[in-house]
Amino acid sequence: MSAHRHFLDLSDAGGDAIAAMIGDAIDRKGARKGWPKGRPDADFALDGRVLAMIFEKSSTRTRVSFDVAMRQLGGSSLILDSSSSQLGRGESIADTARVLSRMVDAIMIRTDDHAKAEELAHYADVPVINGLTDRSHPCQIVADLLTVIEHGKPLPGLEVAWFGDGNNVLHSILEAAGLMKFNVRAAVPVGYEPDAEFIELARAGGATVNLTQDAAAAAAGADVIVTDTWVSMGQDHTHNKIAAMAPYQVNQSLMVRAKSEALFLHCLPAHVGDEVSKEVFEGPQSAVFDEAENRIHAQKSILLWCFGLLG
Ligand code: CP
Ligand code: NVA
Repeated sequence: MSAHRHFLDLSDAGGDAIAAMIGDAIDRKGARKGWPKGRPDADFALDGRVLAMIFEKSSTRTRVSFDVAMRQLGGSSLILDSSSSQLGRGESIADTARVLSRMVDAIMIRTDDHAKAEELAHYADVPVINGLTDRSHPCQIVADLLTVIEHGKPLPGLEVAWFGDGNNVLHSILEAAGLMKFNVRAAVPVGYEPDAEFIELARAGGATVNLTQDAAAAAAGADVIVTDTWVSMGQDHTHNKIAAMAPYQVNQSLMVRAKSEALFLHCLPAHVGDEVSKEVFEGPQSAVFDEAENRIHAQKSILLWCFGLLG
């Protein structure tokens, strides 16, 4: 891999840098309160820098938050989507990496196979950021941790309960658990467990991880309740999977088992009525739109870390 600060997974930064990112995000968010969203921060920290964003999958939050993040840091961004770039016609990742490195200062990629993001980082001469792969979604989790801290919950010892599919978002939560010293209870049906590698990573970092099929037990006394779509981008929407997921819906009868001040998080987009009931999604414990807004503030600190300006 080229000798740049790539952010393909949370471990690339490590716990201290993630803590620094969250601190910086809180400071920057506070300093620009009430400002127009496109006005640059006072320090123009990434003045003149350009971020290219490659999208081989759909996005609303990641796309808009990285663009606005670059504007707020004094830089700019551009988008290459697979249907209208030469990547979609078979140009190699290696050549794309080398060309973009001559034209822009950093690259974000959202794709299916994580190996593509790794290959891009290998050939790029600028920082590469994982904007979601089938394996992980590290940028999302920086925003999630920021949201949890902003809601007055310190991370060490926090009990985070996950419900549903053992997917890319859960993988990054598990990775974060080992780095930031919180615990994870994952209530997932048989056959949809997260990769063992991420459970081992969390445990190696000192986190307690409980994998269970008992949703009620996972929710008991939890500080944070999290779920995500039952069918991620690129997956088949099968009757079997939906049937297996149904007992893991986050609804009010599950929420009441958690601590009374527990937060509900969802990276969005949500399928209200499937993985979460309308009552919980729209309810007082739901922080999903704070979480979405925090994607901007988190992306800024991830970008600053990649450019060696943080952590
Ligand atoms: N949460 C998230 O990554 O949203 P998008 O798919 O809209 O980018
Ligand atoms: N697990 C979801 C997250 C979307 C932001 C997916 O990969 O589609």
